[in-house]
Amino acid sequence: VRHLSVIGIGAGDPGFLTLEAIAAIEQVDVFIRFAKAADHDEPAALRALIIERFAVTRPHREVEITDPVRRADLPYPAAVSEWHAARAALLESALTSEVGEGETAGILVWGDPALYDSTLRLVDAVIARGSVDFEHVVVPGISSVQVLAARHRIPLNRVGQPVLVTTGRRLAAGLPHGVEDVVVMLDGGTAFTTLVGAGYEIFWGAYLGTPDEILIAGPLDDVADTIISERAAARERLGWMFDTYLLRAAPGAPARADP
Ligand SMILES: C[S@@+](CC[C@H](N)C(=O)[O-])C[C@H]1O[C@@H](n2cnc3c(N)ncnc32)[C@H](O)[C@@H]1O
Repeated sequence: VRHLSVIGIGAGDPGFLTLEAIAAIEQVDVFIRFAKAADHDEPAALRALIIERFAVTRPHREVEITDPVRRADLPYPAAVSEWHAARAALLESALTSEVGEGETAGILVWGDPALYDSTLRLVDAVIARGSVDFEHVVVPGISSVQVLAARHRIPLNRVGQPVLVTTGRRLAAGLPHGVEDVVVMLDGGTAFTTLVGAGYEIFWGAYLGTPDEILIAGPLDDVADTIISERAAARERLGWMFDTYLLRAAPGAPARADP
C-alpha cells in the first residue's frame, strides 16, 4: 500500500519544524507540491529550503502539480467545486503514477494543515473517488496564529473565554453578536478598520517567523493608520503580504450591535 504524509512545516521560520515533522520528512520518497501561478510564492521557497536541509537521509523525487485555474465564467460555488474536483483528480493521478507501492509521498503544508488549508479536504476527496489505495497521516505544524500570540507574548483567549478564528472577508461583513476576541486570517485588505471606534485593541503581525516580520499592537483607534501605512509600504517593498491579527474588545467597550 502507498503512504501519504501531510506535514505541517510551520508558518515562516524553518525553526518551527517539529521533531515529528523532520522524522516524517526523512521518510518521504516523493514530495508532491501544487505550483501556484502567483508571482510570489513564499511557502514554495520555504518548502524548497526544508527539503534541501532535511530530506537528506534517502534519495527522493519531487513532483509538481500545476494548480488548475478557477474558472471565472461559472458562478462562484460551481467554480470552486469544479476546481476542487480538478485538483483531486490531479493528486490522484500523481499518487497513482508517481508513487510506487510501499513508497511514501509527502505534502508539506505551510503552518498547520488544520487551519485554513485545503490539503486535508483534497486528500479526503481523493479517498472518496476510491481509485487509489493509500494510508495517510497528518503531522501538526506551528500555525501563524500561534506565532502571532508568541511574538506579542499574549494568550489568545481571556480566562475561560472563547476566541473566534475567521477571515478578513467575514470580519468586514460584521462580527456575530457577543464576539469580543477574534483572530483574523486571509485578510486581503484592512478589514480591521470596520471596528475603529468600537473600543478594540489589536495585536497585528505580518511575515511572522521570517526576517521581514513586523509587529504592531495597541488600541485599534490609535494604531490603525500606522498598520495601514506599514502594510502598504511592506507590500510594495516585498511584493507580497501575509498578515494575521487578534482583535480584543477592551473591557467596558460599547457592545456592538449585529450588522
Ligand atoms: C491559506 S492560510 C494558511 C494558514 C496556515 N495553515 C497556518 O496554519 O498559519 C494563509 C493565511 O495565514 C496567515 N499567515 C500564514 N503565515 C503567516 C505569517 N508567516 N505571518 C502572518 N500571517 C500568516 C495569513 O492570514 C494568510 O493570509
